[in-house]
Amino acid sequence: MDTRHSLVTGANRGLGLEFASQLLARGDHVVATARHPGRATALNALAGEYPGRLHVLPLDVASDKSRRELVHELPLVLGDAHLDLLVNNAGVLHSGERWGHVEQAILEDSLRTNAIGPFLLAQALAPRLRDGGRIADLSSMMSSMATRTEFRAPSYCISKAAQNMATVMLAKALAPRGIVAVALCPGWVHTDMGGDNAPVAPADSVAGLLRVIDGLTDADNGRFLDWQGEAMAW
Ligand SMILES: NC(=O)c1ccc[n+]([C@@H]2O[C@H](COP(=O)([O-])OP(=O)(O)OC[C@H]3O[C@@H](n4cnc5c(N)ncnc54)[C@H](OP(=O)(O)O)[C@@H]3O)[C@@H](O)[C@H]2O)c1
Repeated sequence: MDTRHSLVTGANRGLGLEFASQLLARGDHVVATARHPGRATALNALAGEYPGRLHVLPLDVASDKSRRELVHELPLVLGDAHLDLLVNNAGVLHSGERWGHVEQAILEDSLRTNAIGPFLLAQALAPRLRDGGRIADLSSMMSSMATRTEFRAPSYCISKAAQNMATVMLAKALAPRGIVAVALCPGWVHTDMGGDNAPVAPADSVAGLLRVIDGLTDADNGRFLDWQGEAMAW
């Protein structure tokens, strides 16, 4: 089988780092992005373990300029190879928001990072994706309008709900090329974002998510699934 090429955003820590690690371990050629590659110690260490198969490139997903620069740099590391998989993993959760004090700047940053950025990145990378490729947008149970029971982290919830619709729009736009885009909930995972009480280990979540991604068919295009392949309520 030809080498698969994958691109993971926010790959310097947490789930993104685990995606890069597991994709490399299974033989993929990986483009891993970080806001500050020079400080991405764990990610750069992986480059030593997998010589020639990991390229670390800068990307602030919320920045139009940064997304454009990434698109320009890709041919330098990929040549004419197409991407088989885009993992829109980078995301931000601003904690501590209180009703009555929600700030426009926090809401805007959340929307730019969690919804606008991943959507426009996918649009910009679409010509690089192979027909039949996959887009995995990391969503969250906190995006689910059907199941929210409390007022907490509104900027995150609103932005992830917007990202869900962005995923559906990608699915519709790219269906003619056989590209499948899905919103994926990783579970509650032990990362900086998930915190110490989170019950799921990053390795288990990502192993599950990769199984789900590998099992996707055209019928799954635009669906919202969790890391064990169960359907999530929008
Ligand atoms: N952990 C959970 O329980 C959980 C649950 C549901 C969904 N998720 C989703 O899963 C994804 C990964 O979460 P995680 O737990 O691994 O979070 P994390 O540990 O906080 O890591 C977040 C990653 O996103 C990057 N990032 C943030 N803003 C960025 C930007 N503007 N441009 C580029 N990269 C940016 C961070 O880079 P820096 O190091 O530069 O900040 C970091 O690499 C997120 O989309 C999150 O919403 C996580």
